Parts: sequence; C-alpha cells; structure tokens
Amino acid sequence: LAPPLLDAQGRRMTYLRLSITDRCNFRCTYCSPASWGGKKDLLTAQEFERIVSVFASMGIQRVRLTGGEPLIRPDILEIAQRISALPGVRHLAITTNASHLERLAAPLREAGVTQLNMSLDTLSEETFRRISKQGDFATTLRGIDAAARVGFSSLKLNVVVMRGVNDDEVPALVRHAHERGITPRFIELMPFGQGTPVPSAELVERLQASGLALVSEPAEDASSATSGPARYWRAPTGRVGFISPLTQNFCGGCNRVRVASNGDLRSCLGGRAQAPLHQLIRGGATDTELALAIRGALGEKPEGHRFTEAGNGATLLPMMGIGG
Ligand code: GTP
Ligand code: 5AD
Ligand code: SF4
Repeated sequence: LAPPLLDAQGRRMTYLRLSITDRCNFRCTYCSPASWGGKKDLLTAQEFERIVSVFASMGIQRVRLTGGEPLIRPDILEIAQRISALPGVRHLAITTNASHLERLAAPLREAGVTQLNMSLDTLSEETFRRISKQGDFATTLRGIDAAARVGFSSLKLNVVVMRGVNDDEVPALVRHAHERGITPRFIELMPFGQGTPVPSAELVERLQASGLALVSEPAEDASSATSGPARYWRAPTGRVGFISPLTQNFCGGCNRVRVASNGDLRSCLGGRAQAPLHQLIRGGATDTELALAIRGALGEKPEGHRFTEAGNGATLLPMMGIGG
C-alpha cells in the first residue's frame, strides 16, 4: 500500500466525496443558480471506480456519492456496486434529496451502500415549493419513509436552516426524524446562493426552550474515517446534529477531499479546482501519475474555508457541481 495521503498541515485524508452529476431535479435556492446548464461529459462508472481505487490505495476508507442529485444517474447502482467492492473501501454513503428512494432504497443497500444522508428542509408543502422549486414534496416524504424501512447502518436528515424561511420548524423536524429512527442535522447556510443563515447555538437554545432536553456529546476523534463537521447532542428521543461552518471552525480536523462533477479534484469545499483527474484519465495517465497529481493537489490544501469573509463564495463553482 502507498503511504497515507497527508496535506501540508499534516491532516490525513480518509474520506472522499465524489460528485457524480451536477444535475438535480430540485434546484434549491441555496444550492443551484437558475442559469446552471449541466455538463454532458460526465465520468463513467468505470472511471469513478478507477479514481476511487487510486484514492483507496492511499488510505481513503470512506466514500460519499453526492451531486447534484446522485440518484438521477441511470447507472447509480452500477457505480455503487463497483465502488463498494473495492478493497479498502469500508463505508459507502450517499447524500440525496430522497426523491428517488421509494424505488432505490432497497437496491442501493444491496449494492453496498451503508449510509444515507437525506435532505429535508421543511414539513410544509408551500415552503418546500419555495425552497426546492422543482421538487415534489409527497414523493420526497415517501422516499424518506422508504429508506427508514431498509436496514442502513446510519440515516441522517440534513436541514439547511434559513432565517424567516424554515427556522420555526426546527422542533417539528426533530420529531419527524426521531419518529423514524433518523438523526436530524441542522446546517448553517454557506454563501453559495440566497438566504440568511441562523447560528447553531441559537437553534440549540430554541430546542431547549421547546422542551427538548439536549446534552452535548464529546466531539468524535478527528482521525477516525467516520468523523465529519457535525457536532451531536443527545435528546431522550434520539440524537440531534449541528453543522456550523460559520460559527465553529472545524477545518483543523478535516479528513476530506473532493472530486467535483467535472472530474476536478478540490481539496477544500471553499477552495479552487485543482488536479483535472478526468482529463488525466482520458489522456492515458497511469495509476502512479494519478496518485502523484492527487498528492500534489493535497500539498496545496487550504487550512480552511473563508466563508465568513465578505465576498467569499461569490466566485465559487455552485454547490451543485461540488456536492457540498
Ligand atoms: P457525515 O459524514 O454523515 O457526517 O456527512 P457529511 O456531513 O460529511 O456530509 P453531507 O453530504 O451530509 O453534508 C452535510 C453538510 O455538511 C453539507 O452542507 C455539506 O456542504 C457540509 N459539509 C460536508 N463536509 C464539509 C466540509 O468538509 N467543509 C464544510 N465547510 N462543509 C462540509
Ligand atoms: N449551505 C449549506 N448546506 C448546503 N447544502 C447545499 N447547499 C448548501 C449551502 N449553501 C447541503 C444540502 C445537502 C448537502 C449536500 O449540502 O442540503 O444536504
Ligand atoms: Fe475541510 Fe475545507 Fe471543509 Fe474546512 S472547508 S472542513 S478545510 S474541506
């Protein structure tokens, strides 16, 4: 096995986020610009398999498929099968808007997917239409229920909280998730689209005030492949997570690297495109050459994002193309 994948700060990369399409059937206000066209020349299932195998040889143990909406790819089951079968890949997760889960939850589990993170920002059909302009509310709720009936090792519900839009629904969303054995997570809006973020500390206070007794859990060991930016609290009915890129700096424990839907490696969500892996593959690069390009890019991984600085985010590729 090759030496582990370290960045210039000595952080060890164990977690790969792979955006497999930049298209989405929802077009949420915080994620996708109206003008986003979508790219035709996406990587194939074999190309993803090849990229993940190179990362796995350098110690990547966990892979998450993101989008756009990853489940709109017709070959999603083949992609999941190929990646979950690779030596070294211990966890395969997907982040999805849940709209295709009624049909796909059970086949994905069979294809080796172990964990699902599903997005749901509201329990009101009207608010849903306002946020997820092209999505269907009832299909989404049924997709989440279908996933809850399949035995995934972890199910989470991602809620991007926006002031004056859905921040009053936080207690109801906790109940909806816990009734289904799902862990809800409230995310501070990052500056990729419209909307005003709400600090996580304010939501914790509001939940406590609504009668939910929350006790904070110790932070997960950053060196574990399963650790991420979320911080968790325990309530009598289940866990509640908060992802707070604006009010809590979690970049010091970062273990993740991304490949955007156009095949460009991005060592940071808030950073620029780096090694063009797709182009390298199409140009006939060997595994050793791919590994060298990946190591070179990780050597330039920024210490962290700068979302709280004015103007930052404006020039980024939309969230849709990076996959969060
Ligand atoms: P778990 O590994 O299950 O905890 O999932 P995750 O939080 O890593 O991934 P998910 O796709 O569910 O993303 C949830 C939110 O966290 C999204 O808003 C992502 O953009 C954000 N997020 C995930 N990883 C990072 C990261 O490295 N940096 C920042 N700033 N945000 C991240
Ligand atoms: N800020 C925070 N989270 C976002 N997501 C998409 N756009 C943003 C944003 N601007 C979340 C989605 C999904 C995950 C992939 O990223 O809700 O859960
Ligand atoms: Fe890692 Fe960059 Fe995310 Fe910070 S913003 S946790 S450094 S990817």
